[in-house]
Amino acid sequence: MTRYEVLANTMAAQIRSGSLKVGARMPSLRQIIAQHGVSQSTVFRAYYLLEEWGLIRAQERSGYYVAPGAAVAQSHAQRPVAAPAEPAKVDISNLVFSVLEAAKHPGIVPLGSAFPSPLLFPLQRLARSLGQSVRFVSPWSTVADLPPGNEALRSQIALRYLGMGIAQPAEELVVTNGALEALNLCLMAVTRPGDVVAIESPGFYAALQAIERLDLRAVEIPVDPRSGLDLDALEQALKNYPVRACWFMTNFQNPTGVTLTVEKKRALVDLLDRHDVPLIEDDVYGELHFQADYPLPARAFDKRGMVMHCSSFSKTLAPGYRIGWVAAGKFADKVQKLKLMTTLSSSIPVQTGLADYLQHGGYDRHLRKLRSALLAQLASMDAAIRRWMPPGVKWTRPDGGYFIWLEFPEPIDAMELHRLAIEHGISVAPGPMFSVSHAFENCIRLNFGHPWNAKIDDALRVLGQLVRQVPAAPTSASVSAPVKRR
Ligand SMILES: Cc1ncc(COP(=O)(O)O)c(C=O)c1O
Repeated sequence: MTRYEVLANTMAAQIRSGSLKVGARMPSLRQIIAQHGVSQSTVFRAYYLLEEWGLIRAQERSGYYVAPGAAVAQSHAQRPVAAPAEPAKVDISNLVFSVLEAAKHPGIVPLGSAFPSPLLFPLQRLARSLGQSVRFVSPWSTVADLPPGNEALRSQIALRYLGMGIAQPAEELVVTNGALEALNLCLMAVTRPGDVVAIESPGFYAALQAIERLDLRAVEIPVDPRSGLDLDALEQALKNYPVRACWFMTNFQNPTGVTLTVEKKRALVDLLDRHDVPLIEDDVYGELHFQADYPLPARAFDKRGMVMHCSSFSKTLAPGYRIGWVAAGKFADKVQKLKLMTTLSSSIPVQTGLADYLQHGGYDRHLRKLRSALLAQLASMDAAIRRWMPPGVKWTRPDGGYFIWLEFPEPIDAMELHRLAIEHGISVAPGPMFSVSHAFENCIRLNFGHPWNAKIDDALRVLGQLVRQVPAAPTSASVSAPVKRR
């Protein structure tokens, strides 16, 4: 395939998967050139091809738009169609930082936040465990608890795996500063600059930031908000590109909330096994399940130590304690050394305190309460969306975690919606934060992790009004349709 054909296929996949909706303006010439490192003529030839395929149409002096005919391809697509986008360099940090910064003002309604309310955590009981363990901690623990980490804490974590039916050796567990450090260390353990990493689209922005920071390239695998990761697209990416690692969420994915079925998780592990590619599994929301049991992670089906299962207590117990871990399989030794070389150790008194809490503090009782609070909050937000959002809006109803992914029927500029919402004291997480190509302009992520009250309900009402006022993405950002020369 020529470069322009590859580019056309990449964009066709985005259109067919619905990432680019009917009527949406196609990305700008500048964006495409920067992202794919192609020439201007390659972009135009790719656009002519897309036009021939009936997927886009030119509007004189205005740009290219996704054609009405693409709706057929979109509605017929059982799931996003295979051809994954070419590996690309990532430039997301400025966008993410600006959104996070704007949402930090006190008093803002935190619908865009990544955290649940601290009011849902047993902070007093935790403080007791911390105080007690600090009083009695052995002075030698500063040496004994260096990576892989406090033994009592790792045993408690291993016990929780056993509760899921996974025999997880405590020796393969490395304690980290939150899941984020675990994920980053895993990525460092299995890649070098320039390598290709498969990530989800839409996916957690910290994966994009890690890839940017380590000078890697990302190949985006579509995630359908209802069925999850597109395994056919992943298989195609594995065949077409030298993928060195995958970073995926299999439970309550951020931002869509989708969970892969057991069959899909098993198939994912088998597929990666056949290609000998390690999986960095981000499972920070697994404990927040609304059904009876913890949905088994892909780690449960791994026989070769190729899945690095990362999680933490940040979403379930104590975000500020910054304690996470990775069950790193055959990479445990490498991850442990990287931990020593980067941050040396996670706070030892905090590790000891958490170990005490897990043994005596009633963690399971707390989790049961937390899950039922989140489920009730989901019901309230679901009802508020129904009441306040424009007709035709689609949203997910996850089985766990605390994120809802909302997709608007008309093209809107989610960045502009975010800006307007901040002016009204409301934060939302705009769709473009969750992909390399800043796609999903029509989407936002909402957080239902806060106890429901009239202020949140009113924020949804205001948001519903703002959505009706927000325009589609700005015209200056599009490729102007040239006069065709064929
Ligand atoms: C999907 C996902 N993974 C990892 C993290 C980071 O977890 P931690 O706070 O334990 O570092 C977050 C936090 O927002 C997250 O949403």
